[in-house]
Amino acid sequence: MDVAKWFQEPGTLPARTPNAIVGAMKGSDILRIAAEIGERKAAGHEVMNLTIGDFDPKIFPIPEVLRDAISTALAEGHTNYPPAIGVPELRSAIRSFYADRLGIAYPEGSVQIGAGARPPIYAAFRALIEPGDLVVYPIPSWNVRFYVDMNLGRHAVIQTGPETGFMPTADQIAPHLREARILLLNSPLNPAGTVISDDLLREISEAVVAENQRRETTGERALYLVFDQVYWQLTFGVEHKSPVSLVPEMARYTIHIDAISKCWAGTGLRVGWAVLPPWLRGNVQPLVGHMGAWAGRAEQIATARLLAQPSLVDPWMDGFKGRVQGLLGALADGFDSMAAEGLPVRCLAPQGAIYLSVHFDLIGRNGITTDEQLRAFLLEEAGVGIVPFTAFGLPDGTGWVRFSVGTATPESVAKAVTNIRAALKRL
Ligand SMILES: Cc1ncc(COP(=O)(O)O)c(C=O)c1O
Repeated sequence: MDVAKWFQEPGTLPARTPNAIVGAMKGSDILRIAAEIGERKAAGHEVMNLTIGDFDPKIFPIPEVLRDAISTALAEGHTNYPPAIGVPELRSAIRSFYADRLGIAYPEGSVQIGAGARPPIYAAFRALIEPGDLVVYPIPSWNVRFYVDMNLGRHAVIQTGPETGFMPTADQIAPHLREARILLLNSPLNPAGTVISDDLLREISEAVVAENQRRETTGERALYLVFDQVYWQLTFGVEHKSPVSLVPEMARYTIHIDAISKCWAGTGLRVGWAVLPPWLRGNVQPLVGHMGAWAGRAEQIATARLLAQPSLVDPWMDGFKGRVQGLLGALADGFDSMAAEGLPVRCLAPQGAIYLSVHFDLIGRNGITTDEQLRAFLLEEAGVGIVPFTAFGLPDGTGWVRFSVGTATPESVAKAVTNIRAALKRL
């Protein structure tokens, strides 16, 4: 029986109408851009696709030890439900890893595993936010706005700029703290590829602690910092710090968000976690459980085996990081030399993640009036796919865009640089 006819337009049934939040939710700009690139490729054009925040597994495979450990775990029969909190081996391996690498010894019960970083972010928001509660976050930023909307929160959006590496300043945050329920920071930053400085993170952390000390006297609910550090192993020449390493009392108010998605190139394996105060973890756990948003059991066991062997992790990480840094450096060198030639482009020095922030001073020139037209110009004239910062919430017309190297090779980067230089010269 073919039931397709029941789904044909026009549908007038009220049952077709989603609720207001879902109805208003926008699809991802990045997926739309990816679809356009797919069409161009299908039409026979060569495209250097530097858009997506993902890895090409042929270029950046996961560590062999992780791949083999997944097969072994499956062969051992790890195919049944994991506990909603996550398997004990992995929770314990993450605690040891944080103690070893970040110098923070978390107690048992502080780690919640999920299917990638997203479910722990969603669950933390869901556990904390009452409708109308204020969430403070900078732009440009990755999907934070959707998590605020899904939880009926209110937005306090801080617009940042290149002079601070697209990080918010403590002065920008300060006026919102008194009312805020969640402050979200991400470092290394998607999309900018920059890292928050120790001084700034310390200043913000001290302000969060001070605000919570005030609330303790009034009985108001606490302010939490959701600190998204999914790219934290990937920093170049700067050291990543947790707010808790800088201001230990922040342990009471920090929700670390983490995953193997980016730092171990395992986006499709769906293993992520939150490291957070145990009492809040107790509230997050049933949410992850009821969503069934736990990571696969075999992947959890395998991740535990990976993290528990620093002698295997480190050489792999050095190689992986070196290649990412090499690609970002080659792109940055290309833009620096174009700038030296007087072409209207500049970039921020890459500090972390898999991204480079690049500014094209073309808006208002040559018929280009929007960031979308800038994106189309780079695609059509240089065969290079990038994502404008508008996709990360920044208003239109800044001329800032994100280059991602997760699917790039030295050859495609060289070609992108050559083509962009030629396209800019033609203008
Ligand atoms: C800053 C940031 N946080 C979280 C995520 C989500 O990670 P996951 O794929 O593990 O859910 C991403 C993915 O792009 C990201 O860039």
